[in-house]
Amino acid sequence: MNTFIPKLPLILRPFLLSLFLSISALIFIASLTSRHHRINTTSEQLTETPPFSVNNSARDLRIRPGYSSYNAYIQHQLNKSLNPKLRNIWKTRDWDRKVRVFAQFFDSLKQRNLLSNASKALSIGARVGQEVEALRRIGVSDSIGIDLVPCPPLVVKGDFHAQPFENETYDFEFSNVFDHALYPWKFVGEIERTLKEGGVCVLHVALSRRADKYSANDLYSVGPLVELFKESELIEVKKVDGFGLDTEVVFRKKRKSNLRLD
Ligand SMILES: *[C@@H]1O[C@H](CO)[C@@H](O)[C@H](O)[C@H]1NC(C)=O
Ligand SMILES: *[C@@H]1O[C@H](CO)[C@@H](O)[C@H](O)[C@H]1NC(C)=O
Ligand SMILES: *[C@@H]1O[C@H](CO)[C@@H](O)[C@H](O)[C@H]1NC(C)=O
Ligand SMILES: *[C@@H]1O[C@H](CO)[C@@H](O)[C@H](O)[C@H]1NC(C)=O
Repeated sequence: MNTFIPKLPLILRPFLLSLFLSISALIFIASLTSRHHRINTTSEQLTETPPFSVNNSARDLRIRPGYSSYNAYIQHQLNKSLNPKLRNIWKTRDWDRKVRVFAQFFDSLKQRNLLSNASKALSIGARVGQEVEALRRIGVSDSIGIDLVPCPPLVVKGDFHAQPFENETYDFEFSNVFDHALYPWKFVGEIERTLKEGGVCVLHVALSRRADKYSANDLYSVGPLVELFKESELIEVKKVDGFGLDTEVVFRKKRKSNLRLD
């Protein structure tokens, strides 16, 4: 049975081995340089450096390259937000279904004591206001949304990288657009700034599938979020089915020490 097979490998073995080794080395080098490249281009072009580089976070949260400036990024986002066809669909065909599903999400948060009718609530990146409508419908009457393009009366103009609100304004903030943040650390920093102590932030994110061409980052685990939410504690991580987003992550902003009152 071994008349042919042993001969060929004998001749080819060293060749195949070296071929295998050099391909592996090439793949390894390519993966290193592309990762390196990804992070460097972003920070050079945009003069913003992520506040992490060591462990998990650089690997599990990747800023997409390709924006030449912050303004180019904003223009790209506006392109989707201002698209008249999309806006019409959001306000008509999508409206009822989405409001109903968001109302269920918020109701479930109420049952878990993370939201109440008395909460002052904000939806970040609210588009035409479906989430805000849902909040109001279940009784959270003091709610508002922000987006680059306002949509009165539910959504006012605001960039989530620099929220147009005072410190410690909200009891509750919701967002399903984390993937649109070019500077995720600013996105989170602004949430922590405008949340009251003990306030709750709920994010819907995609961990297991990649989002659309308007996404500015890709998230591969909850780890980077935990690292970014410096002033908060992680309360819950839960699977959801939220319009392409699969994970609900809940943070609560820590209360400052009571010692200063003494
Ligand atoms: C990442 O490393 C820093 C410094 O070594 C550490 O303080 C931080 O807790 C680590 N973060 C995670 C998510 O492991
Ligand atoms: C916005 O959309 C228009 C038309 O679809 C396109 O020509 C333009 O390049 C887009 N601009 C950006 C910044 O994406
Ligand atoms: C909250 O508001 C909803 C809708 O108005 C109402 O049905 C519900 O009873 C309220 N809950 C509490 C605890 O007041
Ligand atoms: C608001 O919060 C930011 C960040 O926490 C802080 O740097 C700033 O001084 C605060 N502003 C006021 C008016 O308290």
